[in-house]
Amino acid sequence: MELIQWTDKYSVGIKEIDNQHQGLVIIINELFTYMSEGRAKDKLHDIFNHLTDYTKIHFRFEETMLFKYAYSEIGQHKAEHQKFIKKLEDLKSEFLNNKITISLEVLNFLKDWLLNHILISDKKYSVHIQKFNA
Ligand SMILES: [Fe+2]
Ligand SMILES: [Fe+2]
Repeated sequence: MELIQWTDKYSVGIKEIDNQHQGLVIIINELFTYMSEGRAKDKLHDIFNHLTDYTKIHFRFEETMLFKYAYSEIGQHKAEHQKFIKKLEDLKSEFLNNKITISLEVLNFLKDWLLNHILISDKKYSVHIQKFNA
C-alpha cells in the first residue's frame, strides 16, 4: 500500500512540474515503505536526505519559473517554500539526534503539506503561467 496515490487532480497542467511533484510523492512513499518495514535508521536517513535535496531542487525550479513569468505572489510562495525547507532540516536533525523517529505522524505531515501546497499554492501560480502558454 502507498501513502500517497497520485491522481490527475494534483496536476497543475505543467508537465515538468507534475513530473517533479510525482518525484516527491515517490520519495515520500518510499520513506513510508521503509518505515513500515522497520528498515535501518541510516537507510531512512539517506532517503530523508534525498527528499530534502530533491525538494530544494524542485523549489528552485519553481521559483525561477515564477520569476520568469513575473508572478506577483512570488514572495509569498517563496516564503512557504522556505518554511517547509526549515521544517525538513529541523526534522532531519531531530531524527539524526534520536529525538524523533520517522513515524506515521511525520509522514502524514509531509504528505499533507505537499498535497495542500500543490492543490492551493501551486495551482494558483499555474493559472497565471498557463495564460502565457495558451
Ligand atoms: Fe511545487
Ligand atoms: Fe510551490
